[in-house]
This record gives sequence, C-alpha cells and structure tokens, in this order.
Amino acid sequence: EKIVLAYSGGLDTSVILKWLKETYDAEIIAFTADIGQKDELDGLEEKALATGASKVYIDDLREEFAKDFIYPMFQAGAMYEGQYLLGTSIARPLIAKRMVDIAIAEGATAIAHGATGKGNDQVRFELNAAALTPDIAVIAPWRLEEFRNQFPGRAEMIAYAEKHGIPVTASAAKPYSTDRNLLHISYESGVLEDPWFDATTPENKEMYLLSNDPEDAPNEAEYLELEFYKGDCVALNGEKLSPLEVMEKLNELGGKHGIGRVDMVENRFVGMKSRGVYETPGGTILFTAHRKMESITMDREVMNLRDSLITRYSTLVYNGFWFAPERLALQALVTESQKNVTGTVRVKLYKGNVIGAGVKSPVSLYNPDIATMEADPTQAYDQGDATGFIRLNALRLKVGSGVAQNQ
Ligand code: ARG
Ligand code: SIN
Repeated sequence: EKIVLAYSGGLDTSVILKWLKETYDAEIIAFTADIGQKDELDGLEEKALATGASKVYIDDLREEFAKDFIYPMFQAGAMYEGQYLLGTSIARPLIAKRMVDIAIAEGATAIAHGATGKGNDQVRFELNAAALTPDIAVIAPWRLEEFRNQFPGRAEMIAYAEKHGIPVTASAAKPYSTDRNLLHISYESGVLEDPWFDATTPENKEMYLLSNDPEDAPNEAEYLELEFYKGDCVALNGEKLSPLEVMEKLNELGGKHGIGRVDMVENRFVGMKSRGVYETPGGTILFTAHRKMESITMDREVMNLRDSLITRYSTLVYNGFWFAPERLALQALVTESQKNVTGTVRVKLYKGNVIGAGVKSPVSLYNPDIATMEADPTQAYDQGDATGFIRLNALRLKVGSGVAQNQ
C-alpha cells in the first residue's frame, strides 16, 4: 500500500509521516510543491527520507502557480472579505492537482494531509481533489480521534518526534503557524488568537518575513511601471518578464517599501471566525496597478458586471471550488472582460502605499475631448441631451416623493 502525503517538513507533517507509516503499514511518498517557500525547502528531501519516506517528490511548480493560478485570479480582482488576497487559498488547488497526479502515477490508494479538522485547507485539498478524480481515499489524521488522543498538544508531538529521531526545527517553537508561498505568507493561531493582540509593536517586528515595517521603509518613494497585456502584467520598468519573475520582482519592491500587510478577522468556510496576519507585498502592487489599468481600458458595463461577481469568485477560491464548474464558467467571463486591458501603469511605492502616478494605453477608452470642460471638438456629446436624460430618470423619483409627501 502507498500513501502520498503533502509534506512541509514542519513538526505536524513530520509526525504524520511517521504515524501513517506505522499505523497503516504503508509506503509513504512525501510530496512537497515548491511554490515559493524559499528556505523552508532547504534539506527537505533528506529530512523526509530520514523520517521514513520511501520516495520524495519536491516539484518546482512556481511558474505554473504564477501563470495558471495567481494571474487568472488577479484578472478577477479577487479579494476575500475586503482585505485578503487569497494567498493560501489559491495555492491549495495546485497542490491538490499535483498530488492527485502523483497518486495516480504511483498507484497509491490514498492521499494524506496535515490540515486540521477546523480549518479551510482540509476542505480545499479535498474538494479540489474530488473535482479532479472521483475515487481517491483521503486520510486526514487530525480528524481521527485516535490521532488526536495520541497528540493532544505540541508537547506530545515533540516527544514523539524525538523518540523517532525526527529533527525538531526552530519553527516548532514559534508562537504562531505560518504558510508561505510566492504570493504571500500567513500567520495564524497562538498569540494571534487574541484579536486585541497588537501585531504592529516593535516587540513583534521579527514575525514578518516578507516586508519591512512601513515605519522603517525608505523615506524616498520609488517609481515603478507595470505593463499589462489582456489583464496580465508582462513587463516591469520596460523589461519583459515571466509571471514568476514579475511576482518575484514585485515582492522584492513591495517588501522594501512595507507594502501589503493585512491584519484581519475572517470567516472560515467551516463556520468560525479566525484572526490572520498576512504579507502580500507583490500581490498588493499588482492588485492596485491592475485596477488602474482597467480604469481607462474597460467598458463601464463590463466592469460593473465583473465587479458584481468578485465576491462570488473570491468565495469560490476561498472555499475550495477552484476546479468546480462554476469557477471555470466565471473565469471565462473574467478572461473575456480582460481582452482590452492593455497598457502601462505608473505607480509610486512609499511607506506601505501604492500611489497611482499615471496610466496610458494604446487602446484607451478615455477620451479627453469628450470629457473636457472646454469646447468639444468631436461634438459627440450635446449638453442639451442631458435635460431629457435627467427628466426621464427623475420621473419615478418625483412620483415617489410626491406620494411620501401626502402621507
Ligand atoms: N486563513 C487563511 C486561509 O484560509 C490562511 C490559512 C493558512 N494555512 C495554514 N496551513 N497555515 O486561506
Ligand atoms: C489548518 O487548520 O490546518 C490551517 C488553517 C486553515 O486551514 O484555515
């Protein structure tokens, strides 16, 4: 029997690896998607083998993550509950997809993950896997009573790890849990569970890995030009870059200028509220610049229609329905809405802010001749027409206010 485990090298998935092997008497194939966790990947293969994996996959999926997941989502202008750019949510379907592929290729009977029974990630892994293949078993140890009884707390896990010669890294001692990739890093649980805990104090500075504190960011603003083609950023400061290269460069610049920190309490799909702190430096620049690009290139009604679907789209991503038919249908509309979103946006990065500093496009819909307060050379707009336009729109309002007056 073979089980494919989504392995991060952290305390939880290390213990789970060993536990699965013992409990199911199975071969454990450890799988880690390289989606931009950087130094978290150091020594991972050796560690997985030392912990008992029979085979290890560490697959570089960064370009695919940027091109086929982050970019389409940014075309939609997705944002969950007004603040969260979905950095963890959008990574889960890619991990699930590759896991399913490996399971099929290896003839494995099950896939396993270390997400808890109280979170979103379990739902995302499993719904996305289900949407890709009908019959693969899932083992989620945290949902099994015997596992929870054996490991009621961190102390028991650390003891188990030590007993089995699993190296316990410094991260096991961190007072919160993290999830890092090319788009963001998240911090949750532990000290952060108290929403009155102030995560911006000097004492908490070392928590943040991707960005400078805005208060420590450079005193000089930095200009940046982003070039878009059909809704996707294809060049920075005149240099053509792949989606992965764009994200890396934007992260570097955003991090330097303290951009993209968010501290919020959000609603998990499973029903509870949860406090999370996020750093999304590059994503925040991209999100803002993309909206500015749309401002001169997108038709009003197309924008209105797309905007009316942002909440739906974002909730689908958050809740684990990336590969569901309704997200694919919405994506077709979103991508169609982007076909004229081409041009260049100039922004200034300054102490946590992305400040608009110019926008231009060869396919701009903005016409200064029509909008001008000066005489209009195109004669496209006759100010006299506005009288009838307003009169017809006012009709039902007058009927309504007249009735209200007589009550
Ligand atoms: N609350 C965020 C979300 O649901 C982040 C989850 C972080 N996951 C983790 N395993 N640490 O998307
Ligand atoms: C977890 O519960 O495994 C992490 C948090 C989440 O999935 O929401």
